[in-house]
Amino acid sequence: MNWNESTRRSFLKQFGAAGAMAMAAAKSEGLSLPAAQAAGAQSGTTPADERQAATRAQRMQWWHEAKFGMFIHWGLYSVIGQHEWAKEVEGVPIPQYEILAKHFKPKPNAARDWARLAKRAGQRYMVMTTKHHEGFCNFDTKLTNYNAVQQGPGRDLVREYVEAARAEGLRVGFYYSLMDWHHPDGAKCKTDEAARRRFVDYTHGLIRELMTNYGKIDVLWYDVDWPLTPEEWESEKMNQMVFELQPEIIVNNRNGLPGDFSTPEQHITASEAGRAWETCMTLNDSWGFNRGDDAWKTPKEIVDNLATVSKGGGNYLLNIGPEPDGSIPPQTIAVLEEVGRWLDTNGKAFYGTDRCNAGGNVNCNYTRRGNTLYIHQHFWPGHTPAAEWLSFYQPEVVVAIGGLKPKVLSARLLKTGQKVDFTQDEFSVRFTGLPLVAPDQPATVIEVECDGEPTVNHAAMRPLWPRYKVGISI
Ligand code: GLC
Repeated sequence: MNWNESTRRSFLKQFGAAGAMAMAAAKSEGLSLPAAQAAGAQSGTTPADERQAATRAQRMQWWHEAKFGMFIHWGLYSVIGQHEWAKEVEGVPIPQYEILAKHFKPKPNAARDWARLAKRAGQRYMVMTTKHHEGFCNFDTKLTNYNAVQQGPGRDLVREYVEAARAEGLRVGFYYSLMDWHHPDGAKCKTDEAARRRFVDYTHGLIRELMTNYGKIDVLWYDVDWPLTPEEWESEKMNQMVFELQPEIIVNNRNGLPGDFSTPEQHITASEAGRAWETCMTLNDSWGFNRGDDAWKTPKEIVDNLATVSKGGGNYLLNIGPEPDGSIPPQTIAVLEEVGRWLDTNGKAFYGTDRCNAGGNVNCNYTRRGNTLYIHQHFWPGHTPAAEWLSFYQPEVVVAIGGLKPKVLSARLLKTGQKVDFTQDEFSVRFTGLPLVAPDQPATVIEVECDGEPTVNHAAMRPLWPRYKVGISI
């Protein structure tokens, strides 16, 4: 049985299950199914939305567990090396820009190095630009000759990428920009119905090829839906086609529909509980290769971001911008390798963790799995002179967390497994007897078993403090 047959069957099974659920829900409310569907339409959901919702938890399980992915921006803009918006922000005329397609000549199988790096970095999935706003297709297509096979590369770069990711056991995602600066109808489609028809057919056609020609694809990452509305893009139909061809896939929200997850860009903002989200972020300030951009984030920032994202129940899609030949900038390799080395011992504090209700503390961050709290101490306390006077800080190296509930049962350092002593009262937990120098960099993780779901809220204890004497004359 080939892949398509087996997945089509599982699709039918899922749709069967969704149908049965809808039927059961309708029955319990005393509605006939068409009436239930009409009720759905009134509340703004369509039968397709309901089918996607019914299979969402199962389709997204691997993704929630994975937490950390690699985004790859690579295309003709990489040849210019000044960010992937160069065509537009520098006003490069299309005939000039097209010349890049002849000069885009990457080395064979560059994607293998990306996939190996992703693996070493502890990333569990990859998302590559199949077509960015520039309109150039990194894949083989029958719909335009502006593609990697018929231009400079002379081969299908998306196929190489898919094979490379699979060889490392990583999940495969496709980025696809709906906005197209090259296609003759890419802007005209807003004001000319014949152009819209042609351009929407072209867009759906390219997506169909991507969803048909590369086996099982795990993520479809739409981008920029300018200039059309979801109705004009026929986004419902687009997603329906995608799910028919790839029943297990997850899709984002950038074709104007909610999809399976939200996509905060360059900032970490958790969605409301129950809604999946993924922060995408650059490692410097550019998505596409940008020769002069030296604003590299440090491994410390990356692991802290990963903790903030995991704490909010999200995912972190961190970008690399390979050079025109596909090589990875050395600064990117250095940062990701250090993050990966650290995740080798601290991955337990991220993969498969749950949303965590813990407020901020400048010295540390938090993640949680069930009743286990992970304290990510990125600024190690070392020796505090106050330990000489305040019994609170005895013995001298103490990590103290105010407002941690409930009761702590045990604690240990993730790096060494060393047991950590502690004392706890209703206001704080003090982890004591710690080494003078941070046992791990860029952060030391203390794994804390609690007798219920841990939360940290230092403000909650404010009204509870016994206060002495102030304002009372004695
Ligand atoms: C924005 C940019 C684009 C980048 C994307 C990644 O939409 O236009 O260049 O690919 O964000 O999220």
